[in-house]
Amino acid sequence: MGDLILRAAVEAELPAVLEFWRVAAENDSRPVDTDDAIRALYRRDPAALILAVDGSEIVGTIIAGWDGWRCHLYRLAVAPQRRRAGIGGRLVAAAEERFRSFGGTRVDAMVLDGNTVAHGIWAARGYHPQGEWSRWVKPLG
Ligand SMILES: CC(C)(COP(=O)(O)OP(=O)(O)OC[C@H]1O[C@@H](n2cnc3c(N)ncnc32)[C@H](O)[C@@H]1OP(=O)(O)O)[C@@H](O)C(=O)NCCC(=O)NCCS
Repeated sequence: MGDLILRAAVEAELPAVLEFWRVAAENDSRPVDTDDAIRALYRRDPAALILAVDGSEIVGTIIAGWDGWRCHLYRLAVAPQRRRAGIGGRLVAAAEERFRSFGGTRVDAMVLDGNTVAHGIWAARGYHPQGEWSRWVKPLG
């Protein structure tokens, strides 16, 4: 991982991030990623989308969403050919650091029950499912 750096995405990279998620992310049971949606995130909080970049290549992502109240993680993904090399762990650590800088005290992640590969990294980073809660959702028409 010689030249790998973690940094906030810049606007010109947003289409490439969408393409990266198409091949590298978990895409089940969630709203479809769109150009409008990722640009809205960028306008609202440009530093929330953290990339792992090797040269000019995006090899990992995470969204560290701070809404002023709670800390939420989304879109943790690592390029398939770069997995098990610590990139995912570094992305989660960078997101946690961002939350600490705002005074955040607890972080949550949306993790599909069936995504057992992901369970490994969340457990390794100290996360656990919170049995008392389930998520109630309603699509906005
Ligand atoms: C989940 C994902 C982000 C992990 O990224 P990664 O860069 O491979 O993770 P790391 O190398 O930092 O792994 C850190 C630790 O997590 C655990 N872990 C990671 N991948 C694992 C796997 N496939 N099986 C079991 N444990 C795993 C291990 O404890 C690992 O430490 P180790 O390699 O020293 O054993 C990657 O597999 C991925 O992009 N998957 C598809 C998208 C996805 O499911 N994202 C999560 C959405 S909630």
